Amino acid sequence: MRPPRLGVLGSGKGSNYVAIAEAVRSGSLDANIMLVASDFPDAGILTQAHAFGHHALHIPPGPFRTKMSPEAESRLVDALHDAGTDLVILAGFMRVIKEPLLRAFPNRILNIHPSLLPAFKGLEAWKQALEAGVPEAGCTVHLVDAQIDAGEILAQARVPVLPGDTAATLHARIQVEEHKIFPKVIGNYWRELQSV
Ligand code: GAR
Repeated sequence: MRPPRLGVLGSGKGSNYVAIAEAVRSGSLDANIMLVASDFPDAGILTQAHAFGHHALHIPPGPFRTKMSPEAESRLVDALHDAGTDLVILAGFMRVIKEPLLRAFPNRILNIHPSLLPAFKGLEAWKQALEAGVPEAGCTVHLVDAQIDAGEILAQARVPVLPGDTAATLHARIQVEEHKIFPKVIGNYWRELQSV
């Protein structure tokens, strides 16, 4: 089985990307990171990509706040194809994925979301969990389809919500689990795809 070629997209600090890149480096995830792209020119994920020696690309997203323009998304698709991408990894990518990308990578886009889906879709899910007063939070890796945060669930990890938790402490606890499950699920999902 050949290792998957990954295209990683992120808008933020890139700690999930770093976890994946470290798993690749240590050999616990057999994969090649071909491209790291962001909608923000100064996103931490691009700085991290430079540090790992991965191809880092900023794609200006266009005029909308919550999605890329069709032109920008098509540019992204071209860049992912040029890089030979097998799997698109959304590692904190904060724009809704639309048709050009969905059509180009059906069942090949994985997202990590900081809640136990289907609970708390959307932005800052850990804050939603805290405000709702639930005893348990967590994270979910799922396939991306046209519905927001609703594609097939591949794996989840749970963490307790502790007395005195703030949004920051709860998110930090969730991120520890994110960094463990995301690299694992990528490897498992690729093996599953190769076996059918
Ligand atoms: C992560 O907690 C991820 O679950 C979340 O953004 C954070 C990115 O952190 N994603 C979403 O909320 C997607 N809807 P990172 O940049 O340190 O990986």
